Amino acid sequence: MVLCFKLLFGPTAAIFLSAVVILSCFTNVPYLQVSYTDELSHSSYLAPAPVVPRCDIFRGEWVPDPDSPQYTNETCDFIQEHQNCMRYGRPDLDFLKWRWKPDACDLPRFDPHRFLQVVRNKSLAFVGDSLARNHMQSLFCLLAKVEKAKDVSVTDRTDPNMILYYEGYNVTMYLFWSPFLVRSEEVADQPGVFRLYLDEPDDKWLSVASRFDYVLLSGANWFTRQSYFYERRQLVGGMYVALNFTSSLTNRHSHRMAFRTALRALAADARFRGKVILRTLSPMSHFEGGAYDKGGDCRRTRPYRANETAPMGGLELEFYTSQLEEFREAKGLDVVLMDPTAAMLMRPDGHPSRYGHWPDEKRTMYNDCIHWCLPGPIDAWNDMLLHMLSDSN
Ligand SMILES: *[C@@H]1O[C@H](CO)[C@@H](O)[C@H](O)[C@H]1NC(C)=O
Ligand SMILES: *[C@@H]1O[C@H](CO)[C@@H](O)[C@H](O)[C@H]1NC(C)=O
Ligand SMILES: *[C@@H]1O[C@H](CO)[C@@H](O)[C@H](O)[C@H]1NC(C)=O
Ligand SMILES: *[C@@H]1O[C@H](CO)[C@@H](O)[C@H](O)[C@H]1NC(C)=O
Ligand SMILES: *[C@@H]1O[C@H](CO)[C@@H](O)[C@H](O)[C@H]1NC(C)=O
Repeated sequence: MVLCFKLLFGPTAAIFLSAVVILSCFTNVPYLQVSYTDELSHSSYLAPAPVVPRCDIFRGEWVPDPDSPQYTNETCDFIQEHQNCMRYGRPDLDFLKWRWKPDACDLPRFDPHRFLQVVRNKSLAFVGDSLARNHMQSLFCLLAKVEKAKDVSVTDRTDPNMILYYEGYNVTMYLFWSPFLVRSEEVADQPGVFRLYLDEPDDKWLSVASRFDYVLLSGANWFTRQSYFYERRQLVGGMYVALNFTSSLTNRHSHRMAFRTALRALAADARFRGKVILRTLSPMSHFEGGAYDKGGDCRRTRPYRANETAPMGGLELEFYTSQLEEFREAKGLDVVLMDPTAAMLMRPDGHPSRYGHWPDEKRTMYNDCIHWCLPGPIDAWNDMLLHMLSDSN
């Protein structure tokens, strides 16, 4: 109970504890109703400075919200095809009618004016995979009410890297396709198999990092692909590939090392003065009735409550735990943790499922239970982001 108290009320305490404790806390324990005065009464008379209790915005429930969604497929023209669930005829739109409510406070819905004011004259970089893009496009859609960004990408739209500019506020957002965070290359004669240089950051974004006021780092899913691991330019192991030596390294290692290398590289870059936002993973476990390529699907139409949500396990939990640990270990860096994982575990209803394409289209992942519909629950990531950015300014 004491642990849970700390977890719910002390975000800094939370990161020092293992994910298991955190999860058992929000899945099993009824929420403690502790008023702020309980906490304040411990302070001595010598501590007159106002103690503003900080709320853990990452632990809570989804509550009904008749005012959602804040945009539609008609008001936002930047929705990635496969996440445009309205367009592809998703029949139940109840999944849009929820907002994220932290246990100990209220998280206001995204205010586009406020966001642009907070980041005026600043630049943000989203570094990661298609979920980083999903996140950035949600932000774009939410901001579109106030200002539509100019697409100033140096390459065409098929390139997964993107640059958006908000002229009215002088805000630039970059998307860097860097699903492994470290340098990687596809093996020429083995499509879909990657070489990961685990101790070399991906220069594509690192070489320009000094330009960014905020860098959002994320990743997880791509580490489940076939890959060779290199350290000091030597092959040291691999995942789902044949090696002619024995190695005990798995993708737990590659995933952890990638985060470590990315964080250390930013810390070592003297010109980088920005804030790093490490975003924990988006659930990989929402397929039901089979794996993604074995007919698994996500057809739920309502969020889970916290007490109905199965705790994470297996690879997902290990990846999540190592993200918390690498965050905690990061030195010499202004880094904060953005931890929407628990909230998203409760949203098996928010994925495109089979509404990310027309029914007769062939797809490797026919039922998409990885990405998030736009609009959809991923919009809450920007409620969280705005809260975090305003908090730190
Ligand atoms: C938006 O979704 C509706 C169905 O809800 C669909 O009829 C329309 O074509 C979609 N528009 C765009 C621009 O995707
Ligand atoms: C933004 O930059 C302009 C031009 O450098 C400056 O006049 C303005 O005060 C800045 N605004 C903020 C909020 O930093
Ligand atoms: C935009 O912001 C940058 C800082 O990020 C500043 O150097 C520049 O002067 C600003 N430009 C305008 C037009 O405000
Ligand atoms: C093992 O790998 C080395 C280095 O890549 C290569 O030179 C050698 O031929 C390989 N041996 C076998 C049996 O595949
Ligand atoms: C979960 O919590 C709600 C509200 O507190 C309660 O009504 C419900 O019975 C609980 N469900 C389970 C499975 O414990």
